[in-house]
Amino acid sequence: MKKADSTALFSARMLEKLPLPVRNSLDRYGEWLGLAREVETVAVAKSLAPSSLRGLILRRGKQGVPTEFQASHRASIDWSCPSDQPEMAELYARAKRGQWDGDSLPWHTSVDLDDPNLHLLPIDGLDIGVLERNGVKLNAKEIQKLTQSMAAWMLSQFLHGEQGALMAAAQVTECVPFFDGKLYGATQVVDEGRHVEVFRRYLDEKLEKTYQINDNLFVIIDALMRDARWDMKFLGMQIMVEGLALGAFSIMYKMTAEPLLKTLLKYVIQDEARHVHYGVVALREHIKELSERERREREQWTFEVALLMRNRFMAYEVYEEWFEGRMPRAAWREMIESSPAMREFRQVMFSRLMPNLREIGLMSPKVTADYDRVGLLKYASGASASQLTGEAMVAALEQSPRWSASAA
Ligand SMILES: [Fe+2]
Ligand SMILES: [Fe+2]
Repeated sequence: MKKADSTALFSARMLEKLPLPVRNSLDRYGEWLGLAREVETVAVAKSLAPSSLRGLILRRGKQGVPTEFQASHRASIDWSCPSDQPEMAELYARAKRGQWDGDSLPWHTSVDLDDPNLHLLPIDGLDIGVLERNGVKLNAKEIQKLTQSMAAWMLSQFLHGEQGALMAAAQVTECVPFFDGKLYGATQVVDEGRHVEVFRRYLDEKLEKTYQINDNLFVIIDALMRDARWDMKFLGMQIMVEGLALGAFSIMYKMTAEPLLKTLLKYVIQDEARHVHYGVVALREHIKELSERERREREQWTFEVALLMRNRFMAYEVYEEWFEGRMPRAAWREMIESSPAMREFRQVMFSRLMPNLREIGLMSPKVTADYDRVGLLKYASGASASQLTGEAMVAALEQSPRWSASAA
């Protein structure tokens, strides 16, 4: 894997002479070229390239029009309605018992954005020094507002991911080859609808702000919605997006001091733990039956997507709102990369993902060495989704101290 350098074609001195908007455009195109360079497997490139063009160059997620997909997966109905997958049947039973109503959250809680004691995220989580070195000085009030913008940005990406999950859950319910999986899938569709409902309501009513979908998240969702292979949909949504989201929800739960958000995340985490478990059960046996070439393609796709999610989730939408025209896009990226809270997010996300890749058989010695090289292997030894209930996850989170930059 080669490191993407978005400005490799231009020297630093050349770049400095260019007007800021031109430098930022070059930076964005460089990112796309970097993605093309990062993806080394032809089959993986074929599956990601059209979506990258739509997401990163055409920016289809930001044009204010619905994204239409030509779905092409094979759906199935088994008229004998067999009991064919006991672990999925058990998940279905658990999901029915675990249903909750988004209206029952404590929406009366006041979230006063002007209160200096409101900490949606820790106030010392961003590396403000990088902004200062680039000529941008913020006072305490502005730092709090910027932190609120970062929280709104993350919750907006959760919202967009949830809408992707809603559509993907409907697709995988059609194409999963187990009847018990279809019953379980029906509960996941309801769960994802409820998650869209509560994140949208929190953003609308409490933060009064929603950011557009991040271009890289668009790429992943676009790719898996169009992929005809059912197991790629499971891998993309149930394992990758949901696994990483579960980690992100957990760290936000640990970081936030806002009680309504904490309650909302607690409920969502319990549902998401079931969703990832379902993905693990569906893929565990299936991957054993694939040819080595097919297994290898999925393993490599997973590795590339993991890197995309880790390296490219840079909150540029917040940069565009706050700093476009004031400092280069590359300086913002440096700030995000060196901010302790953002580093923690990127790292913890993988502790919920890597054990599942091990359990479904996508951690051969070759890719294990690749994960080790990029520093992610240390997360592979934890409990997988099939060994961990949502309730146990929340209990463990409640016992751990609230995150702070100084302790990180
Ligand atoms: Fe969800
Ligand atoms: Fe989910």
